[in-house]
Amino acid sequence: MSKILMVCLGNICRSPLAEGILREKTKEYSKDIIIDSAGTSNYHIGSQPDNRTIANALTHGVDVSQLKARQFTVPDFDDFDHIYVMDSSNYSDVISLARNEGDKKKVALLLNSIYPNSNMSVPDPYFGGEQGFENVFILLDNACEIIAGSLINQIASK
Ligand code: 4NP
Repeated sequence: MSKILMVCLGNICRSPLAEGILREKTKEYSKDIIIDSAGTSNYHIGSQPDNRTIANALTHGVDVSQLKARQFTVPDFDDFDHIYVMDSSNYSDVISLARNEGDKKKVALLLNSIYPNSNMSVPDPYFGGEQGFENVFILLDNACEIIAGSLINQIASK
């Protein structure tokens, strides 16, 4: 069983979209993969994703309308194998909660999956326009394609 957590600030734009995209790409293996998302902040706990995220995702055949925002908590380090963060500030916020090296090793910038060691951030689309949401979709879709491929390889090689 692989357990993947996507993390951003609000858990209403980037990380729920990453969750939805990765779930869609791995849907044939849903018994072997757990995917969730969380925000480092408490700003939007209980809310569904931003309307602009829901609408953009639907144009790509991904439905995130049923997801509900929650806050990242320390037990998430125990519950997940890989914690993918969207930007450098999410990275410091999550790392600051780590209890040991094992926790820290689980945390990675999502875009390092496509561009290793580049430490690039997925830009926060919240205060921008529609194009920002489409740009975020493309970045997340590319990263999740790589992650889905390696998850499926792992499952197939067992
Ligand atoms: P997210 O976007 O971290 O991708 O969910 C944001 C959502 C809300 C806020 C910031 C970023 N906010 O400041 O309320």
